[in-house]
Amino acid sequence: MDKLRIGYVGCGFMAQAVHIPNILSLEGCELAAIAELRPKLGKLVQDRHRIPKLYPGHRELAEDKDIHAAAVSAHFIAQGEIAIDLLTAGKDVFMEKPMAVTVEQAQRILDAERSSGKRLMIAYMKRYDSGNVLVKELVDRFRASGQLGDVRFARNHGFCGDWTAGMDAPVERTDEPYPPAPEVWPDWCPPPFRRGYIGYLQQYTHNVNLLRWFLDAGDDVKVKAVELDPADGTSGVVVLEAGGVRCTIESGSLPYHSWEEHTQIYFQKGWVRTEAPPLLLKNVPATVEVYRADKKEKVTSSTFPAGGRSWSYKEEMRHFVECLRSGEPFRSPSADAMADVRTLEAIYRRFVEQQ
Ligand SMILES: NC(=O)c1ccc[n+]([C@@H]2O[C@H](COP(=O)([O-])OP(=O)(O)OC[C@H]3O[C@@H](n4cnc5c(N)ncnc54)[C@H](O)[C@@H]3O)[C@@H](O)[C@H]2O)c1
Repeated sequence: MDKLRIGYVGCGFMAQAVHIPNILSLEGCELAAIAELRPKLGKLVQDRHRIPKLYPGHRELAEDKDIHAAAVSAHFIAQGEIAIDLLTAGKDVFMEKPMAVTVEQAQRILDAERSSGKRLMIAYMKRYDSGNVLVKELVDRFRASGQLGDVRFARNHGFCGDWTAGMDAPVERTDEPYPPAPEVWPDWCPPPFRRGYIGYLQQYTHNVNLLRWFLDAGDDVKVKAVELDPADGTSGVVVLEAGGVRCTIESGSLPYHSWEEHTQIYFQKGWVRTEAPPLLLKNVPATVEVYRADKKEKVTSSTFPAGGRSWSYKEEMRHFVECLRSGEPFRSPSADAMADVRTLEAIYRRFVEQQ
């Protein structure tokens, strides 16, 4: 194939500010079509980016035989159902997180993927931040060499903040009503808790996913304790055991002017730590710090990815395109994301039961 022809479903904020510009700027792919349920918005986005085809919905785009693969960012419940239809129509799919709002929905998505023979990648951009890639390499190396002893603890702290970092990409908006989303709610989550669950899921699915990756935990995750504040359903701490390592996730929400999130992997004789940039800040990777108590000088050192500056979201789209062209496996495949859906459900189910 000369260039991978991608169709994009859903022309809202993430599409316009992040994914469409990234697809347009990458070698090896082209944006062949978009689909948007709101016709005025679809036309504005088509005209701005000179996209050859505009479809009124994802089913029409899925029928286009000229399109090799599809990407979707839509309502957090709708996008999983859209991914099922795209896979079933024979497209490889890139979809925004969360993969699903229930384990049952996630299982239907995985079933559709399996029976279609196509592949689904979940857009966990933190796994494509070159600072985090360096952390993963360092943790793997220290674990293999035993230089810092065993991993004893891992801590993720995420109090959020302004994730847009003054992003000034042009984003078209219209007064068209927002399309209704399907009702796929977990039966264990009564209506008063849904808003809190979705808020927690939307953010901390990233943090659980990142911790599991750093620790090579796969689906070996147990929820040991949940202490969230009933006042907002978010602030507090969760204790997990991931790949046999005790971990905490500290969650909260501050109107912070930047982005407050770090992850620290503690060995017996040192640590590796990563501090996240505001998410939409381009070409600023996570900062990485290493402390080694086995060295004579007891200092921490900062290190920078050898590849230089890059943007996690662009790297994840590049990865999707390259994996489809080469046949290599995704770094954030759907089957792996099932562990996040299960873990987030287990956390919030326990919180609801405690009330
Ligand atoms: N990875 C990240 O950092 C990150 C950040 C923000 C949001 N997200 C995720 O991105 C997703 C989208 O967020 P957003 O803010 O762009 O949403 P949005 O509401 O701005 O845009 C979604 C668009 O999809 C369209 N749409 C819905 N169903 C459609 C269909 N069947 N066919 C065609 N178009 C359809 C809607 O009309 C809307 O314009 C959310 O699920 C969210 O979880 C991820």
